[in-house]
Order: sequence, then structure tokens, then C-alpha cells
Amino acid sequence: MGFSSSSRRLCVPSVLLVCLSMILCRAQGGSSRKLYIVYLGDVKHDHPDHVVASHHDMLAGLLGSKEESVASVVYNYKHGFSGFAAMLTPEQAKQLAEFPDVISVERSKTHTTTTTRSWDFLGVNYQTPASELLHGTNYGEDCVQNNYGDDVIIGVVDTGIWPESRSFSDKGYGPIPSRWKGKCQVGPDWGINNCSRKIIGARFYSAGISDEILKTNSLSPRDNHGHGTHCASTAAGSAVEAASFHGLAKGVARGGAPRARIAVYKTLWETPRGPQGGTAGVLAAIDDAIYDGVDVLSLSLGVPGENSFGALHAVQKGITVVYTAGNNGPIPQTVGNTSPWVITVAATKVDRSFPTVITLGNRQQIVGQSLYYQAKNSSGSSFRDLILAELCTTDELNGTDVSGMILVCVPSRRDESVLTPLVTFPQASQYVRNGGGSGLIFAQYTNDLLSETAKLCNGIACVFVDPDTGERIRKYYFLDATSSPVAKIEPARTVTGKEILGPKVASFSSRGPSRDYPDVIKPDIAAPGANILAAVEDSYKFMSGTSMAAPHVSGIVALLKAQHPHWSPAAIKSAIITTAHITDERGMPILAEGLSRKTADPFDYGGGNINPGGAADPGLVYDIDPREYNKFFGCTIIRRTTVSCDETTLPAYHLNLPSIAVPELRRPITLWRTVTNVGKVDSVYHAQVQSPTGVRMEVEPIVLVFDAMNKVHTFKVKLSPMWKLQGDYTFGSITWRKEHKTVRIPVATRMTIHDFYADVA
Ligand SMILES: *[C@@H]1O[C@H](CO)[C@@H](O)[C@H](O)[C@H]1NC(C)=O
Ligand SMILES: *[C@@H]1O[C@H](CO)[C@@H](O)[C@H](O)[C@H]1NC(C)=O
Ligand SMILES: *[C@@H]1O[C@H](CO)[C@@H](O)[C@H](O)[C@H]1NC(C)=O
Repeated sequence: MGFSSSSRRLCVPSVLLVCLSMILCRAQGGSSRKLYIVYLGDVKHDHPDHVVASHHDMLAGLLGSKEESVASVVYNYKHGFSGFAAMLTPEQAKQLAEFPDVISVERSKTHTTTTTRSWDFLGVNYQTPASELLHGTNYGEDCVQNNYGDDVIIGVVDTGIWPESRSFSDKGYGPIPSRWKGKCQVGPDWGINNCSRKIIGARFYSAGISDEILKTNSLSPRDNHGHGTHCASTAAGSAVEAASFHGLAKGVARGGAPRARIAVYKTLWETPRGPQGGTAGVLAAIDDAIYDGVDVLSLSLGVPGENSFGALHAVQKGITVVYTAGNNGPIPQTVGNTSPWVITVAATKVDRSFPTVITLGNRQQIVGQSLYYQAKNSSGSSFRDLILAELCTTDELNGTDVSGMILVCVPSRRDESVLTPLVTFPQASQYVRNGGGSGLIFAQYTNDLLSETAKLCNGIACVFVDPDTGERIRKYYFLDATSSPVAKIEPARTVTGKEILGPKVASFSSRGPSRDYPDVIKPDIAAPGANILAAVEDSYKFMSGTSMAAPHVSGIVALLKAQHPHWSPAAIKSAIITTAHITDERGMPILAEGLSRKTADPFDYGGGNINPGGAADPGLVYDIDPREYNKFFGCTIIRRTTVSCDETTLPAYHLNLPSIAVPELRRPITLWRTVTNVGKVDSVYHAQVQSPTGVRMEVEPIVLVFDAMNKVHTFKVKLSPMWKLQGDYTFGSITWRKEHKTVRIPVATRMTIHDFYADVA
């Protein structure tokens, strides 16, 4: 693995989490220096060099010399926006914030991937499979017809890419679009020929990352983790025949926009705690991507708090920015990446399952789910002795002989069965593996971690069953078994389509309302994110998380861009939200998993589950001139310190978003929305209003007539609370209907009396 000593040795606690060598830190300019991001707004010079020079002039004034300034700067932002990341003391940062040209100064924060709560993160020490467990995904049947995202460029900001994967073959691709200005940054493990007509650009961002981390990574765009490759292939992988995980989920693996081009921005680096990077590098990637000419930016990463001026500049340049909602569900108010200008994506489970038949010694058959496959040389499934335990912690199991047996974990105390599987499942599977066991039946709430079993179980049969099924096994074990209790586990089958109730919002998917922008509904949309099969290195693997959902949306955005090159990011987002499904094909409402299950609401899935075909032909769109965002959020988001900003008293629900959220409805309010006809020129739409419970919602006019002269209409929405009440959120919708076409936006309101109110006491 390549490693070249980097020119700048920085120890950045905000990125590294642990400063591994304090001596090194001090040697590099004082232990109190931290990485700060200094934001200066729009680029004010013609040439990037001049922008950089102006940054150094500014810093030199503060630090005393040009040399000091050059030594402290880690990144210059000079294409899409102006600013820099630099090592500064808190005092220097404070002084800089007072400079007239400085809009904000913030610490660089740690970014991580948004796959499901990973076992790696828990510090569980499982052995890495020697021969990789292989998987492949079969998604995209419902892609927009007649185009494949030709020549649209998707920028993937992630852990890099594995260029040898069949998913990135450039066979049959035309020349790279001439507007492309990106680079192929070489390094160890990455030659110039690793870029192609498919992977048209590749860069990496190692500045600000500690040497400790870099030395276990390839200092190149190559993916040492798998996450970036998985996401890129989900968004834009070429079609690959017969991809599967040992025969499971077998089918054609392809990305949402299989003909789109991929530009790689590696900002996340593999660490023992999972991939990590910092805001400084992610902003540098966004700055470059704006310059390079990407059309869509896909970011399957999360950062605590919002720092999204980079995304705002991208959107103002016409780039659609797609972010993950995060994996902290089903707890409310956990949704992240919620700026109004980005698309925030929740995760659903697709209509696919992996039923696994378990036959007990009394011939009773029960069904669980697993990714268990039959190894080619194995002698086939046979009956094995069962051994029953409760939580299956390492402590509880200590000394238990499981050799050749199937361990069954059924907690007898119900309260315990809810909170611990995240810890107990890895412990149990490790125990079975190390003890030579042949299977594990796990009857606890597992929070969608089926995809993790590939890694954790490595050949042993790990089956998840519902707690009531667990009780049946317990009954058999203690009461029904005539001789010693036994069971047989068959390999999993793949079942897709009509037999499966779906989609459901996955329990891990983070939920609204947004803490940062309560008067904007977040997430915006939901897309498949559980047990997604996509490329990792040379094979195909399952992964779960909103990380997997966001690239589905990025791929669909690429298809929309190819079909409607002139649509703004807001129009594309509107098309996606207003056409989303809120019921399945039978008309059953989409559910949200959690404790307990319920019908999904806009804080689970925004507009609903993505409907690519509908988004291509939305009829009407709620468009936004990107300059509008400054008007609404210029002061609160960008936090100007000394410069006067475009302060406005208008709450954000007046922004022309394809949703309405009023978190504090005390008295009747009126707001407006504007719709633009992008469908048939002569069209008449009728309003269908579903008021949130306890609120009267009136729309005026209730008929909109579009023709060649009238392509745009504004309508009024009046919301009146029916009672004086310290209430909770209730939900409704406004749908413009023309024959079978519906253009629906979600509405969320909360009646309020008191200004501040804790709902959690
Ligand atoms: C990528 O580059 C490496 C090193 O230059 C080379 O060994 C490998 O074959 C290349 N892969 C592809 C797909 O071109
Ligand atoms: C199957 O093959 C693998 C590797 O080739 C080997 O490690 C394993 O022991 C074999 N299993 C059986 C049941 O023969
Ligand atoms: C298992 O139990 C033995 C003694 O009964 C103890 O010495 C050992 O530390 C225990 N192991 C674990 C992992 O708890």
C-alpha cells in the first residue's frame, strides 16, 4: 500500500478524534491550534491565484508574515466560493471573525459515512473474511424510460472508488463531455489509466488528515473501505449481468443512471472507527466539483451541525446536491443535512426479503430472514442440536459449548429484548464462529442489520426471527422435544415483488422535524436503503443505511437532468417530492418501522417513497430562484458576524418549497406558493386539500388554468388553528390534480401557545 510522507504534517483533533502524538502537535505550531474554516462568500477575483493571494494577504496581516500564513493554510476555496481552512488558535479565529470580509469562522468537524450503525463502530472485533463475501444488487427496474443519464456527471464525495469493478466498465461510452474540467489525480495504487470514460475524474483530499490515518490508506482516489464504490455503483454503475451475493438477490446490478459519468472526490479515510474526514476536505471537494463541472453531487456522509454554505454555492451554480438524512432513527428530531437547498434522503426497505426456513425436530417449520447461503462443497443442511440462551452476551455464554450446534437467543425478559441486540448480536455471532457452532437463531429486535450478517457470520447460518417465533422455539425446546431438541436451517431464498409488503421506512432512518430548520419539512424523500447489493472491490455486497438511499436519488436526478437539462435544482427536487408514493401499489399506506410501527408521515419520508417515472413528468413544479435562499437564510445560516446581512422577518415557510411546515401556529397565517407548468401547455388543475387535524387549511384559487400565456400561477394558503392548544404536529397535504396526474406537497403544522415548550418531560 502506498504511502508518501505528506508535505504538511498536521494533527487535527477534530478530524482524528484523538491526537495521537501531542509532541507532533506542539511541534506543528502550538497545541492549541485547531483547524478552522474561514468563509468569505462569493469569489471576488477573476483568477483562482488571485483569490488565494487575497486569502494569504488577509492571514498574513493576522499571523505576522506571509510564511506563517502559507504554513497555516490547509485548503484554499477558490472556485465555487471563497474561503480557506487553516490551523489557528481560538484567539486568532476570533480575531479573524471580526475582519470585515469574513462571513463566518467555524471549526472543521468530523464527517462519517451514513451506513447503518456499523459493527466496526462498536469496536466489535470480528475477523475479516479471508475470501470476500460477495454480493450484488438488483435495483432500478423502475428507472425513467428511454434515457440512462447519458453524459450527466455525478460527483461522489466519499471514500474513493475501485476502478476495476465491472460496474465501472466504460465499454461503449463516447468521449468525455467537453465541458469537463476535472482531474485524474494519480497516486500509489492509482494510475492515470484508472480514469476512463466512465470514471472521468478522481481526486483525493488528504490535507488535514493525520499521518496516523493516512499511512493505513492509499494516498490516491482508491477506495480502501468499499463505501464509496458501493455508493458510486448505486448511483451510476453500468449494468452488470448476474451479480449476486452467493446467488441471493441475483439479477442485473446497475446504478440508477447507468450511463452517467462518475467523478470521484475522496474525502473520507479508513480508520479503525470507520471512514472519517473533516469539513475542511469536504468543502474543498465541493469547491473543486463546482469548478470541474459536475451536475449532481452525492454525499453519503454526515456531520454534526450544519455547515452547508458549500452546498448552497453548488446549488446556486445549478448543481443538485443530494445528502443523507442519517441513521439515528426512529428517534424524532434526528434528521441531519437539512438545509433547504439540498435534497435530504431517508431510507426505505425494498420489496425484497430473504426468507429462511427453519425446521424443528418435531417437523414444525418456521420462517426467519438471513443471508445464509450454501457453500458449494458443503454436505447440505442437516439437523443440528439446539442450545438455548437469553441475551447471548459473551458473559452469559462464557464456557457454553456450541460446537456443531445452533445457538438460539430468546430473551425471557421482554424489556431486555429491545435495547441490546446491537451489542449482543455481534457477541453471539462471534461466540458461535469461534466456538465452531453451525448456526445462530436470533429472536430480538435487530434494527435492520441483516446486511451486517454477511461480515459477522461468515458462513454460519445467522437467522433473525420475530420474538413470537422465538417463543415457539423456546416452547419446543422445553416442552415439545421428545429427545434432544434439534433444528435444520435451509439456505435463504430471495423473494421480491408482490408477495412482500413494501416499501417501509427503515427503523434506522433519521426522523424529522429538523432541529436546524423547523419550518422546513425534512427529510425530503425516501429511497431504498436497506440490504442494497452493489459493488465493493471486485464483487458485490449488501450494505444498509441512508448512505445507500442517497445515491439512488442521485442517479434519478441524473436521469432527470438528462431529460430536462434546464431544470433548476429546486425544480428537480420539486418533481421528486410532488410525485412520490405514499401508498404501495395496492393502495396500502407506507409504514414506518420503529418502536412501534405506524403509518409513515412527512417526518419519516418527506413527500414519500421516490417514484422515478412520475418525477420525469411532474406536471407542475415549485421552483425557487437560488438567490431567494440568501433572503431567507442569509443571516441565520451563514451567521455573518460584523457585516450587515439581508435580514428578513419572513419565516422560511414563505420560501417556495414543495412542502409547508409551520412549527408554531398560534393564530391564522397566510402564505403563498407558486407553481410552474412543465407539462402539457393547456392544463387545468384542481386543488384537493387535506387539512392537518385541528387546523383549517384553505387554498385559493382552487382551480388553476394554464395555457401558452399563463405558465405560472401563485395560490394562497390560509392556515387557521381551530383551538388554542399546546399541540403536537399534525399532517395534511395540498394536491393539484389533473385527471390521473397528482402534484402533492406535504403539510405539517403544530398549534402552539407558549414560546418554549418541552415535549419530552
Ligand atoms: C489502475 O492502476 C493500477 C496502477 O497503475 C493498475 O495496476 C490497474 O490495473 C489499473 N486499473 C485499471 C482498471 O485500469
Ligand atoms: C469448503 O471449502 C473451503 C475452502 O475451499 C474450506 O475451507 C472448507 O473447509 C470446505 N468445507 C467443507 C465442508 O468441506
Ligand atoms: C469466563 O469465565 C472464567 C471463569 O469462570 C473467567 O476466568 C473468564 O475471564 C471468563 N471469560 C469472559 C470472557 O468473561
